[in-house]
Amino acid sequence: MNPITNETNRMELTETLEQLKQDTLARLETAADLDALDAVESGAVGRESPIAAARRGLGQMEAEQRRDAGRMINEVAKEIEAAVAARREELAADARAATIASEAIDVTIDHISFPSGRIHVVQQVIDEVCDIFVGLGYHIAEGPEAETAWYNFDALNTPPNHPARLESDTMYVDYGKPEDEMLLRTHTSPVQARYMEQHKPPVYIVAPGKTYRNDTVDATHLPVFYQIEGLAVDESITFSDLKGTLAEFARQFFLPTTRVRLRPHFFPFTEPSAELDVSCFNCDGGESSCRVCKGVGWLEMLGCGMVDPRVFDAVGYDSSAVTGFAFGMGVERLAMARHGIDSIRHFIDNDVRFLEQFPG
Ligand code: DAH
Repeated sequence: MNPITNETNRMELTETLEQLKQDTLARLETAADLDALDAVESGAVGRESPIAAARRGLGQMEAEQRRDAGRMINEVAKEIEAAVAARREELAADARAATIASEAIDVTIDHISFPSGRIHVVQQVIDEVCDIFVGLGYHIAEGPEAETAWYNFDALNTPPNHPARLESDTMYVDYGKPEDEMLLRTHTSPVQARYMEQHKPPVYIVAPGKTYRNDTVDATHLPVFYQIEGLAVDESITFSDLKGTLAEFARQFFLPTTRVRLRPHFFPFTEPSAELDVSCFNCDGGESSCRVCKGVGWLEMLGCGMVDPRVFDAVGYDSSAVTGFAFGMGVERLAMARHGIDSIRHFIDNDVRFLEQFPG
């Protein structure tokens, strides 16, 4: 740039600066992002820019001219810098708006919900019954579902010719040694024998689990169902302990006012044996039209009795030193009575409209 020595030079400088300003303003307009903006800025006022060159030229000028030219250069430089700053604001605002738009979450949109599962009503009843007996001091015991004929029948005083052992009633499995006559346990009672073999008296246990019978499905039968076995063995257990314990269980499971009665029955592994009925929790025996007990007033609940001394002998207990009682209940039957369920098939249909009614 020529030093300002006359009016012509001054005009030239004015023109050059004006041109630079116009060019820069135009390029700022089209700068699409902050990088482009930085490039425009350093091109106009940076170290290699026309403004820097003009400033370098000031050194060769006379003092008065230098002041004049310096003022002109500074003015344009200021205007350019102000325009750059304004454009930078604009671009930064655009960038912020773009980020906000791209990261926006529509909080009004429906979330995807997965229905949560719940404990099956049969398991709920198992848990509840076990809790009641644990509260009475009982332990929980378990045994295998594939069982030997010895534990399922012989140890429980059930002779080889007993009809329950026929293939029409019992599902035998082709597994293990043939002399073991492996089968799917038809009740939870073999857990009594297994437990007594492994533990000295006193014994207070409940044993919940799956049981199997060669039955066709109908409203009250399933080939696979659940039982809970109970066994108490000690030095002087009596029949009144049996009745008192089961009455307490019935009051906790049904109602505080529930009554029980015992009817004589037969089971090979108890003597005497009985069936336990509970007073109808719906009508308390007062309504001939009751839908729960059908007017009977009583509901059949479980089988029980005093442990037959032969069972003690079979497991190696001294049958002259201990006595005991045992009981076995069908879990589905309890659940049906409690909830007024009309068919045992509902438990295995897996229809959520049924299952949802028992939130637990
Ligand atoms: N095991 C019997 C059944 O499946 C139920 C039963 C009856 C169990 C009397 C017992 C008992 O422990 O003492 O029908």
